[in-house]
Amino acid sequence: MFLMEAIFMSDSKIIVALDYPNADAALALAKQLDPARCKLKIGKELFTRSGPATVETLVKQGFDIFLDLKYHDIPNTVAKACSAAADLGVWMMNVHTLGGSAMMTAARQAIGNNGDRPLLIGVTLLTSMDQTTFDEIGLQGSISDTVLRLAALANKSGLDGVVCSAQEATLLRAQHNDNFQLVTPGIRPENSVQGDQHRTMTPAKAIAAGSSYLVIGRPITAAESPMAALAAIELSLN
Ligand code: C5P
Repeated sequence: MFLMEAIFMSDSKIIVALDYPNADAALALAKQLDPARCKLKIGKELFTRSGPATVETLVKQGFDIFLDLKYHDIPNTVAKACSAAADLGVWMMNVHTLGGSAMMTAARQAIGNNGDRPLLIGVTLLTSMDQTTFDEIGLQGSISDTVLRLAALANKSGLDGVVCSAQEATLLRAQHNDNFQLVTPGIRPENSVQGDQHRTMTPAKAIAAGSSYLVIGRPITAAESPMAALAAIELSLN
């Protein structure tokens, strides 16, 4: 690990979603943030447009990066993709649990066991999946039982945690100890704009419900001062 990264390494629970269409916009926002006070999430749009270079730039600046590419493919392909992501120096990455235990186990083995290996997180059911879509693709049972089952499968396959809504965190935390990371989007500070998120929770309530990390986009990125918005959220967590 580079010395600079070691100095900046943050223990923040806040992951700012860099939902931007190009590297310039993402880097401009990152410039306003402190790597000691938050982590950053890079998703499919930014990665597809700007590639690994943006990830590497932000890693060099000291940010912990959650590479949110939700891999889902045959075990060999996912394992190789995870290995490539680990080589970029990311802090966290994710795969779809619907790929099954063989895929998840292969992914977990691919990132090794070094102390500074990335965390490997599973996506259970996307929160955009409603009952109609669930039925349409032939899944059986209820959505919440399926989320619990997939999270248990992720745990058994050696994954470090799951992405889930903060509403699901209480149930999941009852079944998993604190080493199992619950990464929760759909977070809205008190009095902030809900936007297209429906089932939101405040940062403090999400942490109380068992969330390990909070994924927060627009309440920070669209704020007049992203750092002030971040500071207000930190204060609400104290
Ligand atoms: O701006 P906002 O706080 O709504 O951003 C939330 C981030 O979390 C976005 O990057 C979104 O894609 C992501 N996300 C989500 N719901 C999920 C999974 C990921 O909102 N179930």
